[in-house]
Amino acid sequence: MAEVRAEAAAKSRQLERYAADLRETFKAERAHRSRLQRSYMETVRALSNAVEARDAYTGKHAERVAAYGLEIARAMGSPLADDPQIEFGFLLHDVGKVAVPDAILYKPEPLSDDERALMARHPETGTQILRDVEFLGEARSVVRHHHERWDGFGYPDGLRGEEIPLAARVFAVADTLDALTTDRPYRPASDLAHARRIIAANAGTQFDPAIIDVFAAIPDATLERIRGDIR
Ligand SMILES: [Fe+2]
Repeated sequence: MAEVRAEAAAKSRQLERYAADLRETFKAERAHRSRLQRSYMETVRALSNAVEARDAYTGKHAERVAAYGLEIARAMGSPLADDPQIEFGFLLHDVGKVAVPDAILYKPEPLSDDERALMARHPETGTQILRDVEFLGEARSVVRHHHERWDGFGYPDGLRGEEIPLAARVFAVADTLDALTTDRPYRPASDLAHARRIIAANAGTQFDPAIIDVFAAIPDATLERIRGDIR
């Protein structure tokens, strides 16, 4: 009897050791995963900074747009708000502009048709650049489709309505918001109220109207805070 009890106790100690090992492994695995995730984020930011460093006017455009985009996704109650791949896509949306010559990128006058066509290739170029980076996942569809329009007149694929990936539809609103509320060489920044009016006027043509409804309900203070924090 005593032998059986001793054996049971030994077994139970062994099981506890296994459990402890498992907990340790799990903890190490989790730490490893979060380190990896951090490295991904740092790499993506470095790449996005490299693109932005060329453009003195837009400053931290990518970071602000990412923050606006995530805020809109959050207000929609969408899981996109917590998906790192979506944030990566927001940050890298214009990576394809590395292939646009300075003379076009910085041209203060309106672009010629040829120049505009070259500029409009940046979503496809970006997709090509990121094609084999597996960890970016859905980020690549944001890069490809960030200039599509709800009415189907955008590029590069002329997708319309819900054919456009949701993250790209959210992004389009964030991108326009930031473009309107920052100074450009050819015009000063609009204030938030004016930017909101322009965006609302383009619901159903450029933008997904359901997203504009949600966007309209985001308090000014939230958007002003992002603009103030990231400059
Ligand atoms: Fe773009």
